[in-house]
Amino acid sequence: MRSAILVIKCRAAVAWEVGKPLSIEEVEVAPPRYHEVRVKIIATGICGTDDHVLAGSFPKVEYPVIPGHEGAGIVESVGPGVTCVKPGDKVIPLCLPQCGECSSCLKSNTNCCLKTHICEPQNLMPDKTSRFTCKGKQVHHFLWISTFSEYTVMPDSTVVKIDSAAPLDKVCLFGCGFSTGYGAALNTAQVTPGSTCAVFGLGGVGLSVVMGCKAAGASRIIGIDINRDKFEKAKELGATECLNPQDYKKPIQEVLLEMTGHGVDYAFEVVGCLETLTAALASCHMGCGICVMVGVPPLGAQLSFDPMLLFTGRTMKGSFIGGWKMKDSIPQLVSSYMEGKFKPDILITHILPFSDIGKGFDLLHAGKSIRTVLMF
Ligand code: APR
Ligand code: ZN
Ligand code: ZN
Repeated sequence: MRSAILVIKCRAAVAWEVGKPLSIEEVEVAPPRYHEVRVKIIATGICGTDDHVLAGSFPKVEYPVIPGHEGAGIVESVGPGVTCVKPGDKVIPLCLPQCGECSSCLKSNTNCCLKTHICEPQNLMPDKTSRFTCKGKQVHHFLWISTFSEYTVMPDSTVVKIDSAAPLDKVCLFGCGFSTGYGAALNTAQVTPGSTCAVFGLGGVGLSVVMGCKAAGASRIIGIDINRDKFEKAKELGATECLNPQDYKKPIQEVLLEMTGHGVDYAFEVVGCLETLTAALASCHMGCGICVMVGVPPLGAQLSFDPMLLFTGRTMKGSFIGGWKMKDSIPQLVSSYMEGKFKPDILITHILPFSDIGKGFDLLHAGKSIRTVLMF
C-alpha cells in the first residue's frame, strides 16, 4: 500500500485550450483520496466525444483537461473506504457513474445516475480538487476518468472490476463506443425480431448499433453514411444495405420511405448532427416508428421539426451510454464477450503506441479509422 501515498509522474495527453491539439506532457498524479481509486491505464480508445472536447463542443468541460473515457486498466492503489476493487484488479473506468444511491440509480428503468457530468460537472473529483498537475498548474479531469493518462484517479462509483482474463486492449471499447451503440439497439429501442432498422452514421458507435440490431433479430438493417468506405464493415456486421445520402437528389428520409413502403421501425442517429436527427425521425413508420438519438448533439443547439411527426405516433428517445447501468452491466458484457457472443474487436482498425495519439486523431478526422486503440 506504500504507493497509495506517493505522487506518480507519468505521461498524459493534455488539452491546454479549445482548438489546440493534444500535447503529451509529464504530469503528476496525486494519490487516491477517500472513496477514490488510482488506475494504471493499459489501453484506451479514441472516441468522437474526445474530439468534441478538443473542439470545445462538449458541455461543461474546463481546460486544461486530460480527455479520454474509453479505457481499461489495472488498479494501482485505492483510497480509504474503497471496497469494490483492490490493487491488481482489472477494471474498466465508467464514463457514467452508478452511485447506487440517487433517485435514478434506485429506479430500474434508467441509467442516468444523477452524478453524471450533465447534472454536475466531473471536471474535479467529488471533493472539488484535482489529482492532476502539470508544470505547476492544476489540470482538470474529464468525466472523472481521464483515460489519456498512464495513471488516473477516479471515484469508486466510476470503476468496475472485470474478468481477470479479459484482454484490456479489446474490452476498453466497452467503456463507451461498443456499449453505447449495442445498448441503444437492445435497451433503448428494444429492437424486435423481423423489424427494419436504419442507422445514420457508421462510425464505431453506429457499427455497434448495427451489431445490436442484428443480435436483436432485425431482418433489414440499412446503414447510412456519407463516407462509403464505412459500408464494407457495416455489411460484415449485419447491415443488409448501405446508402450514401450524397448519391440522391431527394432527402434521405424520402429515399428510406420509398425503400421501405412506410418507413422504418427503428431509426438511430449516430452522427451527432441535427439534420440527421430530424431525417431519422422523418424516416420512421407513422404510428409506431421509434427514433433513437445516440450521437452527442452540437453544444447549445435547439432542435426544430414538424411536430406532426410525433403527433402521428412516432417516438423520439435519447439513449445515454446505451441505457446500461454501467456497474451492473459492464462486467456482464465483458463475460459475454469472453464467451464469444459478440466481436467488437472488428471495430479496432488501428493500434498505436500512446505517443502517437495525434496520429490517432488525424485518422479519425480523415475518416480512415473506426476505432484507434492506444497502448501505454
Ligand atoms: N450523414 C450520414 N453520416 C454522416 C454524416 C451525415 N450527414 N455526417 C457524418 N457522418 C458519418 C461519418 O462519416 C462517420 O462515419 O458519421 C460517422 C460518425 O462516426 P465517428 O466520427 O467515428 O463517431 P463515433 O465514435 O461513431 O460516434 C458517433 O456518437 O458518441 C457519440 O460523440 C459521438 O456524436 C458522436 C456519435
Ligand atoms: Zn446514482
Ligand atoms: Zn465515447
